[in-house]
Amino acid sequence: MGWCSWNAFNRNFTEDIFYRAADEMVTNGMQAAGYEYINVDGGWWEGIGTGKVVRNSSGYPTWSAAKYPRGLPTLIEYIHKKGFKYGHYTNAGPTACSGDEGTSQGYEAQDVHLFTSWGIDMLKVDACYTPVPPASKNKDIIQLWNRLLNESGRKVLFSNCRNGCRTDNGTTSKHGFSPWAPWCAELTNMWRNSGDIKATWASMLYNLDSLKGRGAIGGPGRWNDPDFLEVGVGEFAYDGSKRSLEMNRAHFALWAVTSSPLIVAPDLASCPRDILEIFLNEVAISINQQYAGNAGDRLIFDGEVLGANDESQIWYKPLPNKTAAVVLFNPASDGAAVKLNVPYRSLPALAAGMPGWRCRVLDVWGGNNSMVDDGLEVFLEPRSAYFVMISLCEGPSLVI
Ligand code: GLA
Repeated sequence: MGWCSWNAFNRNFTEDIFYRAADEMVTNGMQAAGYEYINVDGGWWEGIGTGKVVRNSSGYPTWSAAKYPRGLPTLIEYIHKKGFKYGHYTNAGPTACSGDEGTSQGYEAQDVHLFTSWGIDMLKVDACYTPVPPASKNKDIIQLWNRLLNESGRKVLFSNCRNGCRTDNGTTSKHGFSPWAPWCAELTNMWRNSGDIKATWASMLYNLDSLKGRGAIGGPGRWNDPDFLEVGVGEFAYDGSKRSLEMNRAHFALWAVTSSPLIVAPDLASCPRDILEIFLNEVAISINQQYAGNAGDRLIFDGEVLGANDESQIWYKPLPNKTAAVVLFNPASDGAAVKLNVPYRSLPALAAGMPGWRCRVLDVWGGNNSMVDDGLEVFLEPRSAYFVMISLCEGPSLVI
């Protein structure tokens, strides 16, 4: 969980944004809620946009003096002093996505040495201009970074950005349950399953789709990454309407129920209270952080993907103690409300049997909970979801 500058600021940032984010996250409750990383993304180096990363005479990259007048290590120290971890970014290829030559390819050992000496706690390793698949090349790259990070002696969360492991790289099908290379989960702590998310509903759906069938792969220390949350940004910018609130809640619920990294990315200085309350929802966060054998996935019952027509999706995550989290989801952008059903017996975590069972259903956003018979049935407007935690199921009492 954390915050990253990329979605709101792209490469147009200065260090002030990070100092400010650290301060904001302490005062607005995000730190207490569990958001611990503050991450930079592409564009921190000297030479950004000139076509060449500036490296000093020893070959080490230097930070942009214009962006970091006080120096990058001073910022990292501040982030640490405030009780956060610092996430850094580099690119495994020879040229950055922005076109600057001289990113980490050929400098891997030096760069890991430099970054860890600054005290980084996370490293996102991007894939711009790396060799195109075969996957074996991607694996070699990731194996090298894995070894260097392990040898550094510093505990660094390793985030693989698009080096293999995607569902849409031509080796896997978009709608099927895609094949999987086990090295993806063995060598990094999180890996992107898809291309870059944009701040649109359609892009959110596309990246969500890349999680389908991958819940069994995620687990403690190894997470599917559908990319940053766009909650509060672009098409998700909150306009005060119910529809706008609901679509933001749906996006967050879907990332939470799939154990996806919760890296939020709006400008926190102007983040509306209603959006902040989504970030701070304790039940949503606890659903995201618990693990009971599957990271969360589309629900399969009797061999069928429930809601398989994609107009009504059901995402499910088992939780410890016979508890389950479910997101019933209408991804359509317009049209009438759709009816969705989920019988309890389709949720294995509950161990609830035939009709007649009752369970406690907690509405994550509304906060109210009640005993409900048999299962869930809701009508959902386009771009909305019903996010619940279900527990304490009871079988039917014996009639004598
Ligand atoms: C790639 C990554 C993004 C972001 C940019 C930065 O596109 O996938 O997440 O890091 O590079 O240039």
